[in-house]
Amino acid sequence: MELQQGRRSFQHRCARTGDALHAGLVITLLIGVWYAQALEVTTGKVNFVEVLNGSSVLLPCTYSSCIGIKNLYFNWHFNDNGTKIPLCEALIPAEGIEPNVKIDHERVEFVGSSKRSNISILLHNVTFEDQGEYICFARNYKEKDRNHSATFTLFVVDKLKVVDNTLTLIIVSVLGGVIGLIVLIMVIKAVVVAVLTKVQEKNKECLVSSTGNDNTENGLPASKADTKATPKA
Ligand SMILES: *[C@@H]1O[C@H](CO)[C@@H](O)[C@H](O)[C@H]1NC(C)=O
Ligand SMILES: *[C@@H]1O[C@H](CO)[C@@H](O)[C@H](O)[C@H]1NC(C)=O
Ligand SMILES: *[C@@H]1O[C@H](CO)[C@@H](O)[C@H](O)[C@H]1NC(C)=O
Ligand SMILES: *[C@@H]1O[C@H](CO)[C@@H](O)[C@H](O)[C@H]1NC(C)=O
Ligand SMILES: *[C@@H]1O[C@H](CO)[C@@H](O)[C@H](O)[C@H]1NC(C)=O
Repeated sequence: MELQQGRRSFQHRCARTGDALHAGLVITLLIGVWYAQALEVTTGKVNFVEVLNGSSVLLPCTYSSCIGIKNLYFNWHFNDNGTKIPLCEALIPAEGIEPNVKIDHERVEFVGSSKRSNISILLHNVTFEDQGEYICFARNYKEKDRNHSATFTLFVVDKLKVVDNTLTLIIVSVLGGVIGLIVLIMVIKAVVVAVLTKVQEKNKECLVSSTGNDNTENGLPASKADTKATPKA
């Protein structure tokens, strides 16, 4: 009786989680029911963050399990060049019961909630030494010895996107310079063309006015070149 009920709730739970789990269920049936009970811990799709020194940072971690949880043990530790530095640990007796978290690090604060399957922590006053890998570890009593973990990487910087700004500035300067140069070339070209045209026109004028003079001498009406030439005289 109890076994059937457990199985029904297990199926109900899995159906809600959607298509990804349907595919997972098929694979599960092929490999064996044991893997369906697997707990999953995740630090999210983007499992790294870049923060400013001195700020506080959220180290996210959530869990999920098809069969639900019982005495879920979890901890967070920092991988300091291979040495495990414990940050915090706790036991969630059952779903919805908030854990009594033991904090091992003075700047760590637990901000998760078992009601949201959230075991995230906050790290305050970040220093450059805090940069590195943070491991969220969990083990469900229902799965005995199976360990699960997820890694979150923290990058600590002095000023956010300083390099990007410099790069943008360089690009803008170069682009501005190039555009300026093009404009300058165009202006020079226009001036040169204008001067050349004027010189050519002057040459023409000289030619025309000479013929114009001839024309007036011949008694013909004044040409266009004459009117243009008059203000200069
Ligand atoms: C961050 O580090 C820089 C360089 O070490 C330092 O000058 C600055 O005061 C630090 N900022 C904070 C908020 O600790
Ligand atoms: C990490 O280990 C490497 C060699 O294993 C060593 O050169 C380096 O100084 C260590 N870094 C820290 C921060 O302890
Ligand atoms: C973070 O630093 C500020 C100022 O230095 C201090 O007042 C605060 O108590 C620190 N917070 C933690 C959690 O260490
Ligand atoms: C976990 O809880 C923290 C603090 O309440 C929140 O900022 C974060 O978004 C939560 N993460 C998820 C995946 O719900
Ligand atoms: C799980 O981790 C514990 C230490 O937390 C270790 O003693 C145990 O051997 C691990 N089990 C497996 C199956 O890796």
